[in-house]
Amino acid sequence: MQKNIAEILQVAGVVPVLVVDKAEDALPLAGALIEGGLKVLEVTLRTEAALEVVEQIAKHLPEAHVGTGTVLNGDDLRRSIDAGARFMVSPGATDQLLEAAEGSEVPLLPGAASVSEVMRLYERGYRYQKFFPAQAAGGVPMLKSIGGPLQEVRFCPTGGIGPKNASDFLALDNVVCVGGSWMASSALVREQNWAEITRQAQQAAALKPKSP
Ligand code: 3PG
Repeated sequence: MQKNIAEILQVAGVVPVLVVDKAEDALPLAGALIEGGLKVLEVTLRTEAALEVVEQIAKHLPEAHVGTGTVLNGDDLRRSIDAGARFMVSPGATDQLLEAAEGSEVPLLPGAASVSEVMRLYERGYRYQKFFPAQAAGGVPMLKSIGGPLQEVRFCPTGGIGPKNASDFLALDNVVCVGGSWMASSALVREQNWAEITRQAQQAAALKPKSP
């Protein structure tokens, strides 16, 4: 259920979280991010085009590690796997979702926002977790505090992270990468401003975790 997740999350310090409305944008967008140095891409299942976007990236850009985000239940999980996702991310965790993920060859990065949620996931074997919504749920001080009693758990915080605070998260011992939409915002994608996305991806790719 978390096979290979560490290897995937260690590829880059920053994981773009993508909302893509049009399937035709899949390859130029992914290409722009890869050119900028970001190869782990989370495509959220928030648009009708999302699964086709995943399929196209998986088929045509094998150097990318494409995964799905906003995976809310077993159906989302199965559709992600069928589309070729190499990993899946959920904002939180329900019993139904975790049961569906058991035995899955494609790893799940489940979300947690409190100490008890982190503990429950760890109890079920999830050493790697998404901390969401990172900034709203306490940000850097919260993650640092969690690292006191729960030293084994590693996080990919996401939500409210941008160029100004990403390096603060990445400096924590229990953070392996951060997720965020800033380098491929909906506005930039709508404008098909691939050059600017590459430029912002290059800056994001320079951000590295202290503890990969
Ligand atoms: C999301 O839910 O869209 C992700 O966590 C990204 O959040 P962000 O847009 O604040 O980076």
